[in-house]
Amino acid sequence: MNAAHRPGTALRSPASERNRQPILEVLQRVLPARGAALEIASGTGQHVAFFAAALPGWHWQSSDVTDAAFGSIAAWCAQLAVANVAPPVLLDASAPRWPVTGPELAPASLDAIYCANLLHIAPWAVCGGLMRGAARHLAPRGVLITYGPYLEQGVPTAQGNLDFDADLRRRDPAWGVRAREDVEAEAEAAGLRLVERVAMPANNLMLVFARGLVNRPGEPGAVQIGGKALRVGAGSRPLHERLFKLEAIAPRRISRIKGYERFPVVAAEKSVL
Ligand SMILES: C[S@@+](CC[C@H](N)C(=O)[O-])C[C@H]1O[C@@H](n2cnc3c(N)ncnc32)[C@H](O)[C@@H]1O
Repeated sequence: MNAAHRPGTALRSPASERNRQPILEVLQRVLPARGAALEIASGTGQHVAFFAAALPGWHWQSSDVTDAAFGSIAAWCAQLAVANVAPPVLLDASAPRWPVTGPELAPASLDAIYCANLLHIAPWAVCGGLMRGAARHLAPRGVLITYGPYLEQGVPTAQGNLDFDADLRRRDPAWGVRAREDVEAEAEAAGLRLVERVAMPANNLMLVFARGLVNRPGEPGAVQIGGKALRVGAGSRPLHERLFKLEAIAPRRISRIKGYERFPVVAAEKSVL
């Protein structure tokens, strides 16, 4: 048993205790019944243990940039008697390569990546690293789900988020509450698209990003396969299906894809996408 497996003190974060149930309800709606998930920035491990207990069809890999709380992650998993969480691995979201400790962490193999409360408490470069890492490690229909506070154009910012932003910047000038639009731009640059925005309690958001073949409804598609550009109108179904297959058998040949919806955009949220 190495340190990552050994239960230590189960550290408590009051915020995690408050937000885990509302977050779980979104995960239960957005995720299929089973799959492989990676949690980035697991912290105390309260989230991963709680979600693993409530989503028994999922296998979770926990991780953090530091091993300081690895004993806490093991303690929470032991307390909730979950067997579907792998011992945490050291993973820096901003690193150009993430560790591949098993088949599920191999490139293009994860069904979901979950990351809560990281982007505001890390330098901005971590956001691009997270998006590029997610684009590398998600399976073709996988999703990246983030949770945390954001600023948004056209949405009045809660005083609590402004105060939190000022406090973060005082603690470290590289930290700060991020603009949702900036995060979305980093995601798009990495090949991910925001497909759902869920308003959460205490002025937080959950954002769901999908990999690969997604588009905005009605937007014409532009696909580049092996250097050859193809333009297609939105809704040409048989071609969608051929492209899904092509992506599955030859993902590296498709250098740029814009134009295929593979993840349902939730009607209530369409206006912000
Ligand atoms: C505010 S805590 C959030 C913990 C947990 N996700 C939650 O919501 O309760 C932020 C976590 O991000 C981790 N972290 C900071 N920089 C990171 C990076 N570059 N890559 C991965 N994790 C990082 C910290 O070690 C810490 O555990």
